[in-house]
Amino acid sequence: MALYSEKVMEHFIHPKNVGVIEDADGVGEVGNAKCGDIMRMYLKINEEGIIEDVKFETFGCASAIASSSMATELIKGQPVEKALTLTNQAVAEALDGLPAYKMHCSVLAQEAIQSAIEDYHHKKGETT
Ligand code: FES
Repeated sequence: MALYSEKVMEHFIHPKNVGVIEDADGVGEVGNAKCGDIMRMYLKINEEGIIEDVKFETFGCASAIASSSMATELIKGQPVEKALTLTNQAVAEALDGLPAYKMHCSVLAQEAIQSAIEDYHHKKGETT
Protein backbone atom coordinates (compact mmCIF):
# COMPACT_ATOMS: atom_id res chain seq x y z
CA MET A 1 0.00 0.00 0.00
CA ALA A 2 1.25 3.49 -0.80
CA LEU A 3 2.43 5.51 2.18
CA TYR A 4 0.17 8.43 1.30
CA SER A 5 -3.38 8.50 -0.04
CA GLU A 6 -4.10 10.06 -3.42
CA LYS A 7 -5.77 12.98 -1.66
CA VAL A 8 -2.68 13.65 0.44
CA MET A 9 -0.53 13.61 -2.71
CA GLU A 10 -2.96 15.88 -4.54
CA HIS A 11 -3.00 18.47 -1.71
CA PHE A 12 0.76 18.21 -1.31
CA ILE A 13 1.51 18.74 -5.00
CA HIS A 14 -1.24 21.32 -5.57
CA PRO A 15 -1.89 22.86 -2.16
CA LYS A 16 -4.87 25.19 -1.89
CA ASN A 17 -4.79 28.57 -0.14
CA VAL A 18 -1.03 28.98 0.15
CA GLY A 19 0.10 32.52 0.82
CA VAL A 20 -0.41 35.55 3.02
CA ILE A 21 -3.42 37.77 3.74
CA GLU A 22 -1.91 41.21 4.34
CA ASP A 23 -4.92 42.66 6.18
CA ALA A 24 -5.85 39.46 8.02
CA ASP A 25 -8.26 39.69 10.96
CA GLY A 26 -6.45 36.88 12.73
CA VAL A 27 -2.97 35.41 12.37
CA GLY A 28 -1.78 32.31 14.16
CA GLU A 29 1.64 30.73 14.28
CA VAL A 30 2.50 27.44 15.88
CA GLY A 31 5.47 25.12 15.90
CA ASN A 32 5.76 21.39 16.28
CA ALA A 33 8.12 20.45 19.09
CA LYS A 34 8.75 17.01 17.55
CA CYS A 35 10.17 18.16 14.24
CA GLY A 36 10.68 21.92 14.66
CA ASP A 37 8.36 22.74 11.74
CA ILE A 38 6.32 25.93 11.72
CA MET A 39 2.86 26.82 10.43
CA ARG A 40 1.31 30.25 10.00
CA MET A 41 -2.41 30.76 9.31
CA TYR A 42 -4.16 33.95 8.13
CA LEU A 43 -7.92 34.48 8.44
CA LYS A 44 -10.17 37.10 6.89
CA ILE A 45 -13.40 37.18 8.88
CA ASN A 46 -16.46 39.26 8.02
CA GLU A 47 -18.85 41.11 10.36
CA GLU A 48 -21.04 38.02 10.69
CA GLY A 49 -18.09 35.99 11.95
CA ILE A 50 -17.76 33.98 8.73
CA ILE A 51 -14.31 33.05 7.47
CA GLU A 52 -14.27 34.65 4.04
CA ASP A 53 -10.69 33.84 3.20
CA VAL A 54 -7.88 31.78 4.65
CA LYS A 55 -4.26 31.30 3.67
CA PHE A 56 -1.32 29.46 5.15
CA GLU A 57 2.44 29.31 5.01
CA THR A 58 4.45 26.43 6.35
CA PHE A 59 7.96 25.15 6.78
CA GLY A 60 6.61 21.66 7.15
CA CYS A 61 6.62 18.23 5.58
CA ALA A 62 4.30 16.81 2.92
CA SER A 63 1.73 15.79 5.55
CA ALA A 64 1.76 19.26 7.08
CA ILE A 65 1.24 20.89 3.69
CA ALA A 66 -1.57 18.50 2.73
CA SER A 67 -3.22 18.86 6.17
CA SER A 68 -3.12 22.65 6.02
CA SER A 69 -4.44 22.71 2.49
CA MET A 70 -7.34 20.43 3.44
CA ALA A 71 -8.00 22.28 6.71
CA THR A 72 -8.24 25.63 4.94
CA GLU A 73 -10.71 24.14 2.46
CA LEU A 74 -12.80 22.77 5.34
CA ILE A 75 -13.07 26.08 7.23
CA LYS A 76 -13.46 28.48 4.30
CA GLY A 77 -16.97 29.94 4.35
CA GLN A 78 -17.63 28.55 7.84
CA PRO A 79 -18.42 30.46 11.05
CA VAL A 80 -15.41 30.90 13.36
CA GLU A 81 -17.08 28.84 16.12
CA LYS A 82 -17.34 25.90 13.72
CA ALA A 83 -13.71 26.30 12.61
CA LEU A 84 -12.67 26.18 16.26
CA THR A 85 -14.08 22.67 16.57
CA LEU A 86 -12.14 21.28 13.60
CA THR A 87 -9.92 18.46 14.82
CA ASN A 88 -6.78 17.07 13.25
CA GLN A 89 -8.54 13.68 13.06
CA ALA A 90 -11.25 15.25 10.89
CA VAL A 91 -8.58 16.74 8.64
CA ALA A 92 -6.79 13.38 8.37
CA GLU A 93 -10.08 11.63 7.58
CA ALA A 94 -10.86 14.15 4.85
CA LEU A 95 -7.45 13.26 3.38
CA ASP A 96 -8.37 9.54 3.46
CA GLY A 97 -5.93 9.02 6.30
CA LEU A 98 -2.36 9.81 7.27
CA PRO A 99 0.29 7.34 8.42
CA ALA A 100 0.09 7.08 12.23
CA TYR A 101 3.55 8.55 12.73
CA LYS A 102 2.52 11.56 10.61
CA MET A 103 -0.64 12.40 12.54
CA HIS A 104 1.26 14.99 14.60
CA CYS A 105 1.76 17.01 11.40
CA SER A 106 -1.99 17.49 11.07
CA VAL A 107 -2.08 18.90 14.61
CA LEU A 108 -0.12 21.88 13.29
CA ALA A 109 -3.03 22.85 11.03
CA GLN A 110 -5.60 22.50 13.81
CA GLU A 111 -3.52 24.52 16.28
CA ALA A 112 -2.65 27.24 13.76
CA ILE A 113 -6.36 27.76 13.04
CA GLN A 114 -7.16 27.92 16.77
CA SER A 115 -4.31 30.36 17.34
CA ALA A 116 -5.49 32.61 14.47
CA ILE A 117 -9.03 32.63 15.88
CA GLU A 118 -7.65 33.52 19.31
CA ASP A 119 -5.79 36.41 17.71
CA TYR A 120 -9.01 37.51 15.97
CA HIS A 121 -10.88 37.58 19.28
CA HIS A 122 -7.97 39.36 20.94
CA LYS A 123 -7.91 42.04 18.24
CA LYS A 124 -11.66 42.54 18.69
CA GLY A 125 -11.09 42.95 22.41
CA GLU A 126 -12.91 39.73 23.25
CA THR A 127 -11.64 36.97 25.47
CA THR A 128 -12.12 33.33 24.53
FE1 FES B 1 7.16 18.29 10.86
FE2 FES B 1 5.43 16.80 9.57
S1 FES B 1 7.40 16.22 10.19
S2 FES B 1 5.16 18.78 10.31
